[in-house]
Amino acid sequence: MIPWLLAALSLCTPGTGLPPRHMDSVIRMVEALESPHAGVTVTVAELARALGGCGTPGCRAVLGEPPVVPTAPPALSPDRWQLLTRLLHRDAAVPGAVLAPDGSTVALGPLLAGIEVGLRRAGGGRVPVLDPPVDALYAVTIAEALGTSFLLARAGAGATLGPGGCWDDVDDPQNYTLLGPPSPVPDAVANGAMDGVLLGNRLAGDPIRVAELLRGYYGTGNGTEEGRPPSSYRRRDFGALAGPGKLEEEVLAMLRVLRALPPTRELLEAVGAEEEAAIARRAARDFTERYVECPAIVPRCMWGARPYRGTPKPLALPLGSVYIHHTFSPGAPCRSFAACARAMRAMQRFHQDARGWDDIGYSFVVGSDGYVYQGRGWHWVGAHTKGYNSRGYGVGYVGDFSATLPDADTIALVRDELLPCAVRTGRLRHNYTLRGHRQMGHTDCPGDSLFREIETWRGFVPCPGPGGSSDDTIEAEAEGRV
Ligand SMILES: *[C@@H]1O[C@H](CO)[C@@H](O)[C@H](O)[C@H]1NC(C)=O
Ligand SMILES: *[C@@H]1O[C@H](CO)[C@@H](O)[C@H](O)[C@H]1NC(C)=O
Ligand SMILES: *[C@@H]1O[C@H](CO)[C@@H](O)[C@H](O)[C@H]1NC(C)=O
Repeated sequence: MIPWLLAALSLCTPGTGLPPRHMDSVIRMVEALESPHAGVTVTVAELARALGGCGTPGCRAVLGEPPVVPTAPPALSPDRWQLLTRLLHRDAAVPGAVLAPDGSTVALGPLLAGIEVGLRRAGGGRVPVLDPPVDALYAVTIAEALGTSFLLARAGAGATLGPGGCWDDVDDPQNYTLLGPPSPVPDAVANGAMDGVLLGNRLAGDPIRVAELLRGYYGTGNGTEEGRPPSSYRRRDFGALAGPGKLEEEVLAMLRVLRALPPTRELLEAVGAEEEAAIARRAARDFTERYVECPAIVPRCMWGARPYRGTPKPLALPLGSVYIHHTFSPGAPCRSFAACARAMRAMQRFHQDARGWDDIGYSFVVGSDGYVYQGRGWHWVGAHTKGYNSRGYGVGYVGDFSATLPDADTIALVRDELLPCAVRTGRLRHNYTLRGHRQMGHTDCPGDSLFREIETWRGFVPCPGPGGSSDDTIEAEAEGRV
């Protein structure tokens, strides 16, 4: 493995009382640097490159050698400058990442590189032409990272994408820890790259101040209660802009560029043209499946889950059923990461302490903030639909949907994203059946309105589930929801 890759793989960097690693801190710094009296002559994106963002061979080939590292600009307090320096340092852990208000984690390197391409295009384009030609916006954000990751994996070593991670404290994020073995494209890098493409593309057509752009896209603070910030649509918007064909084309072009660059030439020596094309195809397909066609699922550590009590019982996959619920209490849909995480903690507390179950009952919970929250997840038997907990996933919408419906986007999140993703990834049978909780027990759940809605979904069956005994174990029965 080569040194600049190793650098990208190291894990957490200890915090030391610096400003929180939150997008708000970044936006404040960008704002200060963009103010007329900041005393900086380079753009924020160029400054980021000077500090080590865009340190990879392909990115340098596209955007040029980094400017000289400047001294601390007077516009930034020493602790902010130190944070920025750490976030962009070439040896920064995956990291170089910050927590966004929507609860996602975003690597700054690809984000700011995409923004620099956008700014240059808006200013008349000083982006060098490479041979073969690459789309600079994709090259500096996602194409090189993907190409390199799948090229290295060809030798059989390591993961190609992911994993996600968690922050030590979502109110004062300092340490970010990955949830599994690292790849060159952890979720934070994928998010930063998608955002870099989306925002670079926006800037190219409408060169507004970067601070304003970031504030509008990510929202501020802990997220607004009234509406989802645009960042929560990143997967959908990136998919619409890029499409798998474009991604494959750009990864292939980037591999050809890397073949000609001294630091990466040897990586491609033994790779023929056909294999190169296969690597690009696989990279684009896997990325699209994971980050565009499947929804983001907020892991337990991000919403502050307590541990499972006892020993979880594994599901035998693929499952054949899905049961739709509403939570009823909380009765209001949650529209921000902070509110949805709070709802998750409240339900888990209630299920464990009042009901005496091992954990929050649902397999997955659906916020109206654009995210699915992990309850028991894909692999463990839940306590959502008494008698049927080991046969199907229990998916609960946060809110009371007796008289109103979830937003159209929130309906689509399960119907068009989560369930098709579960089928494609082998968790759910292609011929699964879908029912409302009320068909399986004495309850109004999931509410009249939501029930009428799911009657139109793929897999819905009007008749109740098979009666009589079920295949749940005694333990799962004891946990079963009534
Ligand atoms: C971050 O993690 C490191 C190592 O795990 C630890 O030493 C340090 O105290 C942590 N910092 C904070 C602010 O939690
Ligand atoms: C987020 O909310 C917490 C309280 O829930 C608060 O302490 C913190 O300052 C807020 N963060 C931001 C960036 O507004
Ligand atoms: C669903 O398909 C599987 C094979 O993939 C089959 O064994 C099963 O019987 C089918 N179930 C229903 C309800 O048709």
